[in-house]
Amino acid sequence: MLRLLLVAPLAALLLGACAVEEGSRGADASVARATEESEGGVGSLLLPAEATLETIGYLPRDPMAEGVHENPYTAEQIRRGYRIFRNSVDLAGEFVGNDMDCSSCHLNGGQKIKALPLVGVAGLFPQYRNRDARLVSLEDRIRGCFIRSMNGTAPPFDHPVTLALSAYIHWLSDGVPTGESPAWRGLNTIPVESRIPIEELDLVRGEELYNDQCAACHGLDGVGFNLGGLAEPAPLWGPRSWNDGAGAARIWRLAGFIRHAMPLTAPGSLTDEEAQLISAWVNSHERPEFPTKATDFPAGGRPSDAVYDTLVFPSHPLRGSAR
Ligand code: HEC
Ligand code: HEC
Repeated sequence: MLRLLLVAPLAALLLGACAVEEGSRGADASVARATEESEGGVGSLLLPAEATLETIGYLPRDPMAEGVHENPYTAEQIRRGYRIFRNSVDLAGEFVGNDMDCSSCHLNGGQKIKALPLVGVAGLFPQYRNRDARLVSLEDRIRGCFIRSMNGTAPPFDHPVTLALSAYIHWLSDGVPTGESPAWRGLNTIPVESRIPIEELDLVRGEELYNDQCAACHGLDGVGFNLGGLAEPAPLWGPRSWNDGAGAARIWRLAGFIRHAMPLTAPGSLTDEEAQLISAWVNSHERPEFPTKATDFPAGGRPSDAVYDTLVFPSHPLRGSAR
């Protein structure tokens, strides 16, 4: 029923989308200009945060363009990495255990600001990570996304899939200084002072907000629809979603993504509180279990928003009375 009601606005949205989609690939001067104006200094490296569903195929830097790399073999691997990033399920299916692509979360091929961009991150590895309590390389991190966000298995370090993804992510960092975190990194967060204790998040309000703001594209059941061929979001919960060891299984972290990157009709329009309520609703559901999550954070410091972590919460803090 609600689905029917939602069809009209979505259709209007997609009709608008098609008009914009024509000729939106390649050098779209208006988007590039918007990027410069809205983010002063980011230049044309990243798509602006306000960009909506109709530009989901747009790339500030297109790896399919000419002159990607002087070495034709390397150029082909950069392109292959991009294709895997965008269509992991089909092109790296042996390592993927759900319906996610890397670009389900790192929008526009990792080239959109406030949507977990990967531009300029290659030069920051190896880096110390608390979750592992050791130095991790970029390839480690890619493998980590496969076993957690993609609920799959880790491709070997020297596997063509790992190397192609690494080549694409390195290419995204061309021209960005190495060793210093770029200004646009880490923006998908909820500021500490706005964080609401997990037990205080009201699931009834979370569900209402979700149904109102998200269900048109993600469905009342979280599974999601094919959006007129532009994109198909992956399930937000259930057996085909990220597992409970993923970054997105943490309430404040997922809220940071939702706050700035969603809804794709008007990214940035939610408040910190609304984003946390919706995040709580999404992560109150069942999802696949990450088998070795108990050995994460071996040096301590387990995050206090990890609702599926029985070492932090003996029972799921959002299940029970409210549902
Ligand atoms: C379910 C959403 C999701 C999916 C799918 C996903 N990621 Fe991520 N990724 C995140 C989040 C959230 C972070 C940020 C922090 C964290 O989780 O620790 C991240 C961080 C990263 C980082 C580190 C960025 C930095 O600034 O240090 C890399 C590299 C990365 N992801 C690559 C990938 C690749 C490659 C894939 C596909 C194999 C992928 N991700 C799939 C959510 C996702
Ligand atoms: C206009 C359609 C639309 C709306 C409305 C929308 N989303 Fe999305 N969302 C998408 C698309 C499309 C993607 C995947 C992008 C891709 O694959 O390139 C996505 C991706 C996501 C992801 C990354 C993981 C996944 O499963 O794909 C999360 C989390 C998410 N949306 C949450 C939300 C929440 C929460 C809301 C409501 C506040 C919302 N979205 C509203 C279209 C939408």
